[in-house]
Amino acid sequence: MDNFRIQGGATLKGRVRISGAKNAALPILCAALLADGDHVFRNVPNLMDVRTMGKLLRTMGLDAELADGTFSVRSRPVNEPVAPYDLVKQMRASVLVLGPLVARYGRASVSLPGGCAIGARPIDQHLKGLEAMGAQIRLQHGYVHVDVPKGRLQGAELVLDMPTVTGTENLMSAAVLARGRTTIVNAAREPEIEELALVLNKMGAQIEGAGTDVIVIQGVEGLDPVDHAIIADRIEAGTFMAAAAATQGDVFLDGVTFDHLEAVAAKLRQAGVVVEREGSGVRVAAEQRARGTDATTAPHPGFPTDMQAQFMVVMTTASGSSTIVETIFENRFMHVPELNRMGADISVSGRNAHVRGVATLQGAQVMATDLRASASLVIAGLVAEGTTEVLRVYHIDRGYERIEEKLSALGARIERVPGHA
Ligand code: EPZ
Repeated sequence: MDNFRIQGGATLKGRVRISGAKNAALPILCAALLADGDHVFRNVPNLMDVRTMGKLLRTMGLDAELADGTFSVRSRPVNEPVAPYDLVKQMRASVLVLGPLVARYGRASVSLPGGCAIGARPIDQHLKGLEAMGAQIRLQHGYVHVDVPKGRLQGAELVLDMPTVTGTENLMSAAVLARGRTTIVNAAREPEIEELALVLNKMGAQIEGAGTDVIVIQGVEGLDPVDHAIIADRIEAGTFMAAAAATQGDVFLDGVTFDHLEAVAAKLRQAGVVVEREGSGVRVAAEQRARGTDATTAPHPGFPTDMQAQFMVVMTTASGSSTIVETIFENRFMHVPELNRMGADISVSGRNAHVRGVATLQGAQVMATDLRASASLVIAGLVAEGTTEVLRVYHIDRGYERIEEKLSALGARIERVPGHA
């Protein structure tokens, strides 16, 4: 497993092109299951999770390959609508094949995604919605088996207990070929939901209201393949914004949609960081250390949980204290012990992390645990005095394309060290 070795004291300056959005690409690649023929998806990031999704589509008989940012899929009828354990265990987002498979074939078997480092992450809402649309659910030997006795899902009124992102995506994808109309109430409002709806509508679906908390889908008889360029990754963008702020740098992020970054921009501005919309991107600059600023994660358009760890690092060397509240996942503070080993002063009680700003961090050997916590450790390494080694960077490779090259181009001293085993 590879590690990163980082020399601290960096000040990031320059321009960085933000890659396509991982959490838009994953459900959109699954949408290829809904229509036979040649699909072309552009601006797709070359990430481990995207490659795993390609493997999953190939195990179901589709041709799927990523080359130079373009993911081409030749879709054809699937004989075995099954997502096997060995792939789902690598990437829980494999559960996103459920909606398209049940919509198209009236049946599917998906290995139940286990919990992960950040929480139990059940899929009860996904399954409850499919049942309401006429599916029968059977849990057996770690798989969820879904069957539709009538052969075709029936539109229904679905009310989600919480605005689950992949739950909304799965149910929206299931509804596009159902008989009649489906309404999803308390739907997630993330930009990635809007992007998936845009792709499905380009394929011939009839979806209204994506991006709001009520989505209405009128089922159709069939869909056509699509050619689509995917939006930029707002979380990668936010991660670079946090790195620019933490290192008191001046960075232009190219290719991002500012509207997707409103909550992150507002929070950094509140901390005294300059964040300006400029042409096709966003400029982030800080001439002095940030001010201690509280943050509470919330479903979009609130402050994203996927930015909680990265913002916390900015706060570790801020002037003053801050309280960061994680409301989405039950165990998303695993970066805290590692940051404290680097000299941060953070105390956690339940969902609250209280951060007291310190003058500086010290380099150390730290362990990556989950995708965004790992990104926060890299940012801490850029800021710290001395050398930091971040172990198990495969966590980072799941969600960031060539992050060490992008950071080096901004002046960071970071190198990938091939790990043993
Ligand atoms: C998506 O995960 C993202 N992943 C996550 O990004 C992101 O952190 C999360 O949304 C929240 O924004 C993808 O889009 C592939 P949820 P998802 O369902 O859909 C509970 C990253 O870093 N819940 O919105 O799995 C759940 O336990 C990843 O890129 C249920 O109880 O998240 C959690 O507490 C990490 N039952 C909360 O809802 C359900 O059926 C939000 O989960 C579904 C969810």
